[in-house]
Amino acid sequence: MAIQWFPGHMHLTKKAISDRIKNIDVVIELLDARLPGSSANPMLAELTQGRPSLKVLNKQDLADPARTVQWLAHFNSQPGTRALGLDASVSAPAKALIKACFELAPNRGGMVKPMRVLICGIPNVGKSTLINTLTGKRAAKTGDEAGITKLEQRISLADDFYLYDTPGVLWPRIIVAKSGYNLAASGAIGRNAFNEEEVALELLDYLKTHYAALVEGRFKLEGVAAMTDEELLDAIGRKRGALQGGHKVNMQKAAEIAIYDFRSAVMGRMTLETPAEFALWLEAGQKLDAERQVKKDAIELDRKIRFKKIPRPDKRESS
Ligand code: G4P
Repeated sequence: MAIQWFPGHMHLTKKAISDRIKNIDVVIELLDARLPGSSANPMLAELTQGRPSLKVLNKQDLADPARTVQWLAHFNSQPGTRALGLDASVSAPAKALIKACFELAPNRGGMVKPMRVLICGIPNVGKSTLINTLTGKRAAKTGDEAGITKLEQRISLADDFYLYDTPGVLWPRIIVAKSGYNLAASGAIGRNAFNEEEVALELLDYLKTHYAALVEGRFKLEGVAAMTDEELLDAIGRKRGALQGGHKVNMQKAAEIAIYDFRSAVMGRMTLETPAEFALWLEAGQKLDAERQVKKDAIELDRKIRFKKIPRPDKRESS
């Protein structure tokens, strides 16, 4: 079953971005370096009206370094776009961010034309952590609970460099099934919104093909590439003592172990998608989405005809 999740509150965020964008020179999109395609938000490009974009591949300490290089090259080859890798261990990230933004908008700078930057990212991507590092304080996390009034933050990174953080959450509509699973595996989706066993099976399906040696090393297993996803989850549960009555594996517990070990990178640094893979998934997802839309339109047309809101097309032609 495909994962869909609505953190709520989106209209406020959309409005905040639309209101602010007129006075923005560069948009920083924080991405999860383990899933740079799935953690991106296509709605952002629309809302930011083609402003230059800096893609920050955050949590690079958890991601496969070779794949981070691929993703950076992929984004850097796009017009009006730059990319850099980052993680919380970088103690002074401002310098790299400032440099990249001035490369994207070289006409800005100085007190008269300060650089104005908007920072966005899906939940859990590390935005609060980065902002806290940039401001040098433990600022309160800009939560996303309904009813909490949140103000836009403006952070000065230099005399002529302002970073704006809009409140709330901008969450992508998930049209790539694999993206839903990868977002859930990464920790971006609320716990109650997905089935751990299903997510772990999808995760292991990918890891046994692309990172078999790391999985084998962590769980002291052999031949994982030849196992089915269920066999692998079962083997992990057995190795880690996640058992229930009758020496059966508690698959829920085993799934939690697999997901936790991925999230904390104790198996090793792994990335769940390459630019080429993601492009294929996206193409298939868009095709399915378009087909779904055609069906929905046909149902809606039929409904209108049945309730006589509009005449039947054949009748319209003959009259
Ligand atoms: P958000 O504002 O985008 O929602 O994310 P936030 O900064 O709260 O970070 C979400 C989780 O990701 C936090 O862990 C945080 O410590 C971790 N994190 C942020 N940046 C990095 C990074 O570059 N590398 C790694 N490895 N982790 C990072 P948490 O377990 O939810 O909370 P905590 O107890 O660690 O604070």
